[in-house]
Amino acid sequence: MAQLRTLSGEELARLYERGRNVLPGGVCSSTRWNNAWKKPVYAQRSKGSRFWDIEGREFIDMSMSHGAALLGHAPDCLKQAFDQTWELGVLGSLDTPFHIELAEELCRIVPSAERVRFTNSGSEATLHALRLCRAVTGRDKIIRFRGHFHGYHEFTFIGGHPPADQIDAVPPYRESVGIPKSLAELIIAADYNDFEQLEATVKRHAHEAGTLLIEPIDYNCGCILPEPGYLHAARRLADEHGLLLFFDEIQSFAKQSPGGAQQDFGVTPDICTIGKSLGASLPLSAICGKAEIMDRFKPVGDVAHSGTFNAPLVSMLAGLGFVREIQRPEFWAKINGLGEILYSGLDAIAKRSSVPVRIQHHGSRFGITFGTREKVTNYRDTLCHTKERMLKFCLETTNRGVYFHDYGGGACHHGYSSAHSPEDIAKVLQVVEDSLKCVS
Ligand SMILES: Cc1ncc(COP(=O)(O)O)c(C=O)c1O
Repeated sequence: MAQLRTLSGEELARLYERGRNVLPGGVCSSTRWNNAWKKPVYAQRSKGSRFWDIEGREFIDMSMSHGAALLGHAPDCLKQAFDQTWELGVLGSLDTPFHIELAEELCRIVPSAERVRFTNSGSEATLHALRLCRAVTGRDKIIRFRGHFHGYHEFTFIGGHPPADQIDAVPPYRESVGIPKSLAELIIAADYNDFEQLEATVKRHAHEAGTLLIEPIDYNCGCILPEPGYLHAARRLADEHGLLLFFDEIQSFAKQSPGGAQQDFGVTPDICTIGKSLGASLPLSAICGKAEIMDRFKPVGDVAHSGTFNAPLVSMLAGLGFVREIQRPEFWAKINGLGEILYSGLDAIAKRSSVPVRIQHHGSRFGITFGTREKVTNYRDTLCHTKERMLKFCLETTNRGVYFHDYGGGACHHGYSSAHSPEDIAKVLQVVEDSLKCVS
């Protein structure tokens, strides 16, 4: 059996040194360098609700691969997917009946899905979906919301999380150097949950903007829920002004019910992206939408989308395992039951805490915003959040055996899986309460 040996502090320092010689910052993704720990998180192994770092420290995981491991780490369906793929020997660049079967399942589960196109990452999904939207509407600009996140590529890493002094910048703030200014001119940023602003923005820009892009549950900004009727208003305005309504459900898919936010809030977009947990921890995302839109993709239509590594069989089989699991009522009974214990506990702790803190949640994921006890309804409300408090909190919880991902100190999202037990949640609550006492 493959095993990684536990390393001493000195050995870890040497490994990190080796890592930095060959990987920028010693990591393969910038957020894997932990700002609270001031070093990278190197894993040794994971199983169920836990992972062990390379120093052998055991954590109850409240990140769960940013939501990808909704079934827990190393679920049985993944082992079956690996074994079956190996037996079939079909490893890449060919479709199989399993690809069609998974697409059929998604068309049954996701309200807006009449056709499905698989991608690996969520960023790839939103990138190609936006090309499709532009082809269909003939309008290049996108209306998006501050606080929402849609991946790291050039069309979406603009205007999402601007610093306070850039919040109203036009064209919107580019979230990385290297993103051309000309692309920012294609982005119109608005405040989520502001009905009047939404109406005014859509009316003003309908001649040049063809896509209304929404993260319906804004997990990436501390879990901001749509106000009652807001998604319906977006649907109505998109219809009235000929925009495509695009829900980015990479994160919100299968959080409280199988069909995502579109099922939970009863609003069907024209197109959506789903991902994260879809592959039961393997890379798998999908663009789903109305047939007339999706059939603009080649080979039926004229929009290019292809890739050597699209839809590998192992991810399809893992995806089939995942969709089977989330159609079991007992699965949701477990997820929602754990949520009741966790969220009532967190609310009580937040009330008792001397540090102002707000917890918002939907299904298996939740956000923590420091600096306020009031309901957070859009990005501006989160400007009171301080990174220092969040990083201190993450350090204190990990010192007590519970891993909250640091997200650079931002108000982002955390969550549990179906592999967590009520005992895990009880320990998490105790650790959160003790850790908050150390945050000033
Ligand atoms: C709503 C949303 N869209 C897109 C992405 C990008 O997905 P990926 O990290 O798989 O590229 C994320 C990732 O967190 C997300 O939460």
